[in-house]
Amino acid sequence: MNKKYRKVIIAGNWKMYKTIAEARAFAEEFKKIYQPSDVRVAVCAPYPQLPFLVEAFRGTGIGVGAQNVSEFDKGAHTGEISVDMIADLGAKYCIVGHSERRANNGDTDELVNTKVHALLEKGITPIVCVGESLSERDRDLTMERISYQVKAALYGLTAEQVKKVVIAYEPIWAIGTGRTATDEQAQEVCFNIRENLRAQYGALVSRKVCILYGGSMNAKNCAGLLAQPDIDGGLIGGSRSRTLPRSSAKAAGRSKP
Ligand code: 13P
Repeated sequence: MNKKYRKVIIAGNWKMYKTIAEARAFAEEFKKIYQPSDVRVAVCAPYPQLPFLVEAFRGTGIGVGAQNVSEFDKGAHTGEISVDMIADLGAKYCIVGHSERRANNGDTDELVNTKVHALLEKGITPIVCVGESLSERDRDLTMERISYQVKAALYGLTAEQVKKVVIAYEPIWAIGTGRTATDEQAQEVCFNIRENLRAQYGALVSRKVCILYGGSMNAKNCAGLLAQPDIDGGLIGGSRSRTLPRSSAKAAGRSKP
């Protein structure tokens, strides 16, 4: 499979980190070192920072994305943010079905699918996260789990729509743990995702879909992962733990991803 059919995307997932002031400082520094290339770069930030980041990155080619969106288009849904609202803010991407939301916020496969449809209708690129737990990997259920999640997320989309979806393979055991999937493990799963896409939607579609790897990806291990034929980029958090309470995060000297 040839990567020339796809764009490489490097996306940051800021999770619930950074104040506006920290985001401002980051954007200023990042703009100084950023050099436009064929690689697409995106920052998926908390909602309040999106307007500022869109403004800061205007004209640079750096994309801005949200980390979640409501499945409803409007209505009495206290605390929710609709697709129209994130589009209004200038978001071009939206992460959907991150394992942290699946585990902690009730994002089911069905909900993920509804959100993917809603985003595509408004021209926002969904970055759909899929990944197996350690116990699923240990029981040799990885491919089954990932195939199901991908199939469910894309249910009811046309082939043209599927081409516009970005899939991020993020093994849960690798997120925030410092334990990255090996190049071979990550490639095996991403190859499998693409094979399933080929079987369901045809080769023309499968070679267009961008598949990212996420989970303790960093400057040291990214080259090997990105060299894999079916890995088209990365979704990078940078936290050491998903569950550190406020006090221990401080003790660990970590205030930003
Ligand atoms: P880490 O890079 O912190 O492992 O997080 C990955 C992730 O969850 C990206 O969505």
